[in-house]
Amino acid sequence: MSNRHVTASSVLDRVLVLEMVRVTEAAAIAAAKLIGRGDEKAADHAAVEAMRAALNELPMDGTVVIGEGERDEAPMLFIGERVGSAQGSGPKIDIALDPLEGTTITAKGGPNALAVLAIAEQGCLLNAPDVYMDKLAIGPGYAAGTIDLARSPSDNIRSVAKAKGVDPSEINVCVLDRSRHAELIAELRALSCGIQLIPDGDVAGVIAVANPETGIDVYMGTGGAPEGVLAAAALRCVGGQIQGRLLFRNDDEIARARRWGIDDLDRIYALEDMAKGDCIFAATGVTDGSLLAGVHVRKACVTTESIVMRASSGTVRRVTAEHHR
Ligand code: FBP
Repeated sequence: MSNRHVTASSVLDRVLVLEMVRVTEAAAIAAAKLIGRGDEKAADHAAVEAMRAALNELPMDGTVVIGEGERDEAPMLFIGERVGSAQGSGPKIDIALDPLEGTTITAKGGPNALAVLAIAEQGCLLNAPDVYMDKLAIGPGYAAGTIDLARSPSDNIRSVAKAKGVDPSEINVCVLDRSRHAELIAELRALSCGIQLIPDGDVAGVIAVANPETGIDVYMGTGGAPEGVLAAAALRCVGGQIQGRLLFRNDDEIARARRWGIDDLDRIYALEDMAKGDCIFAATGVTDGSLLAGVHVRKACVTTESIVMRASSGTVRRVTAEHHR
């Protein structure tokens, strides 16, 4: 392999694609030791430590753009932290990560907890502050303009139903089970939609729209903005549409957004505003879920299931692994 003129995207292709899986595997295995132990913080901490150590072995000059929080609140994998073993010499890569997406799920032993990572060339992932985001997503195969966050939930359901050629009552929507969604749920019930209420984990919830086996047509509702960017990176690889609008609860959150250069507070972000260019998305299941099996501990080994996908090729790889102990 020639080493001349290695651009970030060629390095994404050649070296980092499968390496991403090692990183999410490490985080998932570490978090899995805490499944059902009732300790969200310990599970998160274990995943963060393991993911950080694995990232630091990769030959890249990486910067965390979506991470565990701002520098003063997160000791590890904070926004702006530099990771990778080739600082100053390797390809400059932006990283969005959630070492444990579903801390409560893990603590309670529920489904769909994931270790998640997305990487892209510098400047290609939205630097979203840790605030809420209103999200609307559909799977592949729909024309541009089928969904529009500026329209009401009912209008969007009718539009998706029309495009799918079914009655709105045949549309299945995934929504986080939160009291703030009471109005949204009532509106969807009025259309007789199927609603899958999930306790946590809206990265998996959004990705479910791209997997026909889940039966989910639409994802709607408010969740974390960082999770929105991660989900956008995933949909960029497998197809589908997502829109997001940041929601601010107080002046501090607005100040955070301005610090990240966000001036238009009402902006609706399309998929490419959140994740553009070539990007790679990887996830490993922590607990069993619709996307991936979780970590299973056998007598002599630990098994994992991961997915790694790349936007520029559309390649989706599923990786099952046995890790001997
Ligand atoms: P954590 O893993 O950080 O606990 O996040 C889980 C999650 O359910 C996300 O998937 C979602 O975006 C967010 O929390 C929703 O926030 P809230 O629990 O405040 O409604």
